Amino acid sequence: MVTYWMTTVVWGVGSIVWVELVRDLYHVLSHHWSPLYRLHAWHHRVFRTDLTPVNEEIYRQAHWRNDVPEALVMLLLSWLSWWFAYLWAPEHQLPALTGSLYTLVFLASAIARGIGIKGADELTDLTHMPGSFLTPPASWRVNRPYHWKHHFDNQKAYYCGTFTFVDKLMGTAVSLKGKTIAVTGASGTLGKALLQHLHQQGAKPIALTSKEQTISLTVKGESVPVKTITWQVGKESDLATQLEKVDILILNHGINVHGERSTEAVAKSYEVNTFSSWRLLELFLTTVRTNKDIACKEVWVNTSEAEVSPAFSPLYELTKRALGELVTLRRLDAPCVVRKLILGPFKSNLNPIGVMSPDWVAQQIVNLAVRDVRNIIVTINPLTFVAFPLKEFLVGIYFKLFSRKSAG
Ligand SMILES: NC(=O)c1ccc[n+]([C@@H]2O[C@H](COP(=O)([O-])OP(=O)(O)OC[C@H]3O[C@@H](n4cnc5c(N)ncnc54)[C@H](OP(=O)(O)O)[C@@H]3O)[C@@H](O)[C@H]2O)c1
Repeated sequence: MVTYWMTTVVWGVGSIVWVELVRDLYHVLSHHWSPLYRLHAWHHRVFRTDLTPVNEEIYRQAHWRNDVPEALVMLLLSWLSWWFAYLWAPEHQLPALTGSLYTLVFLASAIARGIGIKGADELTDLTHMPGSFLTPPASWRVNRPYHWKHHFDNQKAYYCGTFTFVDKLMGTAVSLKGKTIAVTGASGTLGKALLQHLHQQGAKPIALTSKEQTISLTVKGESVPVKTITWQVGKESDLATQLEKVDILILNHGINVHGERSTEAVAKSYEVNTFSSWRLLELFLTTVRTNKDIACKEVWVNTSEAEVSPAFSPLYELTKRALGELVTLRRLDAPCVVRKLILGPFKSNLNPIGVMSPDWVAQQIVNLAVRDVRNIIVTINPLTFVAFPLKEFLVGIYFKLFSRKSAG
């Protein structure tokens, strides 16, 4: 009996997942096949950047030309799950129709909006509601900031309608194209590799370096200088104006004093590894003001695998853990997305015996970021894949329970 009900639930939920998949693939096709795009383009004509409709007529037409056909295709293909049940599990034909029932609700609401029934938009078109964004883009479900990015950041990304699964699979959950991305520790091994891979994704990288120098990338075999800004630990506020124009800030600078434990080593390690990153993080968060900032701005913090495992360098571990925990605390109510980079040993100036290639690590970071992974783990140590998420989850809950959001 229990098995019967469990199978019933699987058929019901599976049929809904199937129609959501159809919706997202229809949307992807609409952007890549011109006959469908001609209909879909109406949907993109409707909204101003504040999500208010340009006019009532275009709003209604967009529903007849895009939302209604989309729901009809979903309805038609929803019958496939019923057909599979008919062939292989006739006793589950009814739950296999759940996806059709679910789609009928979308069809009815699209028709209601097309007819112009008063209040239908507010009740049913939730991802297009105007007003201030209260949270950053969600990771697994489509909220307003996430969908806003499809309209106004990159129409060839953020395709999903309800859950972000298809975008995660396709690498279209975050678009780096055209984004201004500033990287600290830019002349370092990983810094340079990141600048290179971000450039390849169509981003506009900015090198933030602590030395007087110009950083260059290799493009088609030639050395091309990138916009380079010199900054110093302790003078983070000098970057305030530049950070206003930055979409993504990658905090990547760091030192490793290895076996040292002098007063100077303690002070320098905390100053460079923990406090300068924390100050830059806070400074950057003050630049997040508009709906566009909330939707598009991000910070990536390179805290290291040392958050959960030994790096055989006590001060390195202490300072990276302190940074990691500060990030866990601050991102509970950060106004934009904050990612952590949890990296295992790679070969660099800081770690000459690291085993991974920095180029491969940078490539994996970018691959996981465009899939909107919030804790990007790149390591050869399998324990980190278990220990880090567990620690992050428990520490996050602890911080949530025993701290509170400031009234301001
Ligand atoms: N290598 C590993 O195995 C490993 C593993 C996990 C995490 N990480 C982390 O990855 C990041 C990059 O490290 P990496 O391995 O690529 O090392 P790296 O080649 O030594 O690069 C680190 C960069 O940080 C910047 N930096 C160093 N001291 C600084 C100071 N006093 N003030 C401001 N900037 C300073 C420098 O760049 P500029 O001169 O351009 O400012 C330096 O090139 C670090 O945060 C590190 O902790 C490394």
